Amino acid sequence: MGQLRASRLTADAVVFRPVPGGGTAVGSVTGVSTDESPFLRACRREPGERVPVWFMRQAGRSLPEYRALRGHGSILEAIRTPDLATEISLQPVRRYGVDAAILYSDIVTPVAAIGFGVDVEPGVGPVIDQPFSSAADLARLRPLEPEADTPYVLETVKNLVSELVDVPLIGFAGAPFTVASYLVEGGPSRTYARTKALMYGDDDLWFALLDRLADLALASLRSQVEAGASAVQLFDSWAGALSPSDYQRYVLPASTKVFAGLAELGVPRIHFGVNTGELLGLMRSAGADVVGVDWRVDLDDARRRLGDDVALQGNLDPAACLCPWPVVADRVRDVLRRAGSHPGHVFNLGHGVLPETDPGILGQVVELVHAEGRADRLTG
Ligand code: CP3
Repeated sequence: MGQLRASRLTADAVVFRPVPGGGTAVGSVTGVSTDESPFLRACRREPGERVPVWFMRQAGRSLPEYRALRGHGSILEAIRTPDLATEISLQPVRRYGVDAAILYSDIVTPVAAIGFGVDVEPGVGPVIDQPFSSAADLARLRPLEPEADTPYVLETVKNLVSELVDVPLIGFAGAPFTVASYLVEGGPSRTYARTKALMYGDDDLWFALLDRLADLALASLRSQVEAGASAVQLFDSWAGALSPSDYQRYVLPASTKVFAGLAELGVPRIHFGVNTGELLGLMRSAGADVVGVDWRVDLDDARRRLGDDVALQGNLDPAACLCPWPVVADRVRDVLRRAGSHPGHVFNLGHGVLPETDPGILGQVVELVHAEGRADRLTG
């Protein structure tokens, strides 16, 4: 398990080892620096001591210690409270021994911070007071000034980096298309009909909207990296609603702008979407170092589609984690087998942890990936 410092909020539920002497935050008792951690090595396609694993939506959801800490308060309020957001981000690292932490925040944090009028309704997701519908709404999307608008995010990142000794922190943002879908639809959608109507019907307004959202994502990600995040993930969760040609024309330029703006920072850039089997090559071409693959494409097939000069992240079906352990174990082994000996594999789920998942199973997944993923990759 990664090394953590003593936490500022309650840590009674799970035992962890504080850093001896409580000394500096860099390096660790194992002598492995964050930069040489299994996660960052795999992102760079370098053979490492083990196959790294973390889980999308690992912070929250299925963890009882999360529910105990959060109570019924608003998510956006928790995100604005750095001590709380720090503790929630650390909980899965402690419990599961995952190889990366992800910041506890949300893809709507930047738009909420500039006053677009977003709330997150329990059991629903982001809900918008006045959805985006016309050119006049562009004025409601001013540039993000991270120090002034999201100081709590930067404080959480700094707290985390000082508490996590040899475990890298992943910063994240919503990709322009996925954030646009919430702003235009007014909330979660199954069809993205309004979003597509705007996209197909009004080029000028669509590209202006996506450009604003690219700038917001970029400003947020840059600030997270400058505060200490070691990698970033751009979540284009709902891009799979588009055909390759529409993705290429209407979405790729804005996402490419985000990745290009991060290049000089030198941190691995992960690009993830759901149902994006047909888009994997385009998502890679946006400038990603690591491409997230959901469970609909086998990893050996994803590797064939993308070639060797990119890392892959994925792709256990989250629903498999609801099965008895022997079934889960077989499926974990299948993912490892399909990833083969290529060193550029970060084990993850194909999408987020389902709320009903038994945390014990996720702990066993981590152990199994660490135990059995290693041999192949060392020779890779
Ligand atoms: O799931 C994804 O595709 C990841 C991208 C994404 C996030 N938020 C990142 C996130 C998306 C699409 C959202 C929007 C959102 N926000 C939804 C989905 C609604 C829909 O359209 O289906 C929901 C339910 C929220 C609200 C929210 N955000 C909750 C309830 C939580 C707490 C933990 C949880 O997952 O239940 C979050 C935190 C959050 N959103 C994190 C991330 C990366 C940080 C926690 C983590 O990843 O472990």
